[in-house]
Amino acid sequence: VPPQPPPPPPPQQAKPQQQPQQQGPPNKRTTEDFIFGKIIGEGSFSTVYLTKDIHSSREYAIKVCEKRHIIREKKTEYVKRERDVLNALSSAGAPFFVKLYCTFQDTDRLYFVLSYAKNGELLPYINKVGAFDKDCTRFYAGEILLALEYLHGLNIIHRDLKPENILLDDQMHILITDFGSAKIVNQVETLNGADGSNGARPRRNSFVGTAQYVSPELLTDKTANFGSDLWALGCIIYQMVSGLPPFRARSEYKIFQKILALEYEFPDGFDADAQDLVQKLLVLDASERLGAKDTNGYLSIRSHKLFEGLDFENILTTKPPTIS
Ligand code: ADE
Repeated sequence: VPPQPPPPPPPQQAKPQQQPQQQGPPNKRTTEDFIFGKIIGEGSFSTVYLTKDIHSSREYAIKVCEKRHIIREKKTEYVKRERDVLNALSSAGAPFFVKLYCTFQDTDRLYFVLSYAKNGELLPYINKVGAFDKDCTRFYAGEILLALEYLHGLNIIHRDLKPENILLDDQMHILITDFGSAKIVNQVETLNGADGSNGARPRRNSFVGTAQYVSPELLTDKTANFGSDLWALGCIIYQMVSGLPPFRARSEYKIFQKILALEYEFPDGFDADAQDLVQKLLVLDASERLGAKDTNGYLSIRSHKLFEGLDFENILTTKPPTIS
């Protein structure tokens, strides 16, 4: 699919002279409540703008989806899923995730009003410093782990966890975003899946996330389970420590081959504790990954040596280590 040109910024319509009769639920916002600024994110089906609420002067990221495009590409399911997941996380007051403040629409577009992550994506920080030191790796791996405990506790699998979807707020704490690929696991299915799978039938054409972070089970059975996010965590820890994701090749097909063969290496100097944890997460059998058998939070991962000294309980009020 060729990249689509971004939709034009939403028009800032002139206020009608007379107040129109309020339609639908009260207090629905419109584009007129915000000043639209620069583009801060672009996906295949959306554009994210930095905006300012004209009433409070607060900044928000507004994700704009063009209805025609969503319908043409048959992505309505994904957009609804994203809204449902963001609503579930936001009403739970979940830390470590972008918050959905409200949604609204006009004839052509859907709008998601989200928290603005002032420091952008984690990826450029990894690329800029080449690799994180152990303190940074411990801290950010710890925050991602807590986020996954929270998400999985709500029976949600992210399915596309990667450093581009991990944003940083003004205090440099993580805010995970992009739930367009997420799956809400039916609890009955969870109980049926003794292997930690969600019990669903393998499906054709079901979603496959970003090549480098895709788990083997997504490639073989086209089904994700909670362990699929733990695989991605293993890939991200490897990337924080070494600068690059573990499975690299010139084509997606070759990346998939390497993933299925567990073909990757640790460069010289790779921290031994981080290596041990990565090796326990990058396990082909999802049910054998560290944490897969945990029932209430990922205590087996939390107690890994890499996390020694990290105060998980107070991480949100801990000043993140400077990335270097
Ligand atoms: N890019 C995409 N979503 C964003 C957000 N919520 N904040 C900052 N940058 C983003």
